Amino acid sequence: MSVPTQTAVVIETPKAPFIVKSGIAIPKPAAGQVLLKVMAVGLNPMDPMRRSMNMLIDSYPAILGSDIAGVIEEVGQGVQGWKKGDEVFCSDTAGGYQQYHVINEPFLIRKPANVSFDQLATVLITGCTSLNGLYAPSPIGLGLNPTFSSDKPQSGKSAFVLGAATSCGQYAIQYLKLAGFTRIVAYASGKHTEYLASLGATAIIARESTTMVDLVSHPAISAAPFDVVFDALLAMASDAASALDIAHDIVKPNGQLATVNPRSVLSPDRLAQNKGVELVRAFGYYVGPDGGKPPSDLGFGAKPEHTAFGKLIKEHLPRLLETGQLLPNRVEVLPNGLAGIVKGLGRWTGGEGVSGVKLYQSVLKS
Ligand SMILES: NC(=O)c1ccc[n+]([C@@H]2O[C@H](COP(=O)([O-])OP(=O)(O)OC[C@H]3O[C@@H](n4cnc5c(N)ncnc54)[C@H](OP(=O)(O)O)[C@@H]3O)[C@@H](O)[C@H]2O)c1
Repeated sequence: MSVPTQTAVVIETPKAPFIVKSGIAIPKPAAGQVLLKVMAVGLNPMDPMRRSMNMLIDSYPAILGSDIAGVIEEVGQGVQGWKKGDEVFCSDTAGGYQQYHVINEPFLIRKPANVSFDQLATVLITGCTSLNGLYAPSPIGLGLNPTFSSDKPQSGKSAFVLGAATSCGQYAIQYLKLAGFTRIVAYASGKHTEYLASLGATAIIARESTTMVDLVSHPAISAAPFDVVFDALLAMASDAASALDIAHDIVKPNGQLATVNPRSVLSPDRLAQNKGVELVRAFGYYVGPDGGKPPSDLGFGAKPEHTAFGKLIKEHLPRLLETGQLLPNRVEVLPNGLAGIVKGLGRWTGGEGVSGVKLYQSVLKS
């Protein structure tokens, strides 16, 4: 009997281009796993970086794609609480840029009935990066709302989001608002002013009129430095290298600072200031090494603490989405099926860019 096959976006060998390839066997779920029919997958700027740097890829041919929303097609031995036909969303280190994907059970999150597959494919990697960095207790986050309290525990405090129109930045604004921050200033293109305000930003500094280097002397900042700064800047941005230093300049002494960029480091002169700033590097994991599938570790792999806080994420995220307290990113549908993914990924490297929306592909609709 012939093996059922599917189509995927594949990197054949290290640093080879993304290509669409058919005739790939549909995997069988092993014990503790499920086979998902991928309904939608979000694109992340990390993927072209992983390809070009041959980074965080275990073997080739490789299929990337980390933000997945789908339907359970088959349940492996020993999996409890899930059945064929259940609708879920999840993020994995790879595997979404194909029609069927096998994933370990601990990664599954219940799909809220009133949120579409397309919207859910934007929520996890970037959203959990912001959620971990802001809410989770040390060492994975700043501990601003570790119990998902709705009592506004940070009322009266101020926060600044650098790169606020990124997907990470849009989620950071919303989580800061839910935690009760009274003043939330966003740094982004001026065209996003209305939208970022609708998410919870109380003021926007347009990056067309103030360069990142000039932020520190901007009246809205120099008058009152921030309790918390969240650096969500796109690592590929031309000024990303110095973003952490700028973030450090605008946070209060003994304030708190989180960055989404694992490789950012403070310059020696900022370190010499001994400002007493707490710094965390945030990651989008909600399952740690005990989830049965640890990602390749370049010194920034998932920690057991991600599993502990991830249990709360799996409980609260569907509720926040279902009740409209958390809005998924606005999405841009990529045309032309899986080929659209290849073109979409090229937008980050080809200079066309992505602005204030999340790119996604509905795999099985195409
Ligand atoms: N640590 C982790 O686990 C993790 C997980 C996910 C993502 N990340 C990282 O997080 C970063 C953001 O990812 P993302 O998916 O959220 O990005 P994205 O949505 O693709 O970011 C696009 C946005 O970047 C903004 N931008 C570009 N250059 C800028 C600059 N110089 N100043 C301010 N904004 C600028 C643009 O804003 P305008 O529209 O205003 O031009 C655009 O809207 C990436 O570096 C990614 O690798 C890390």
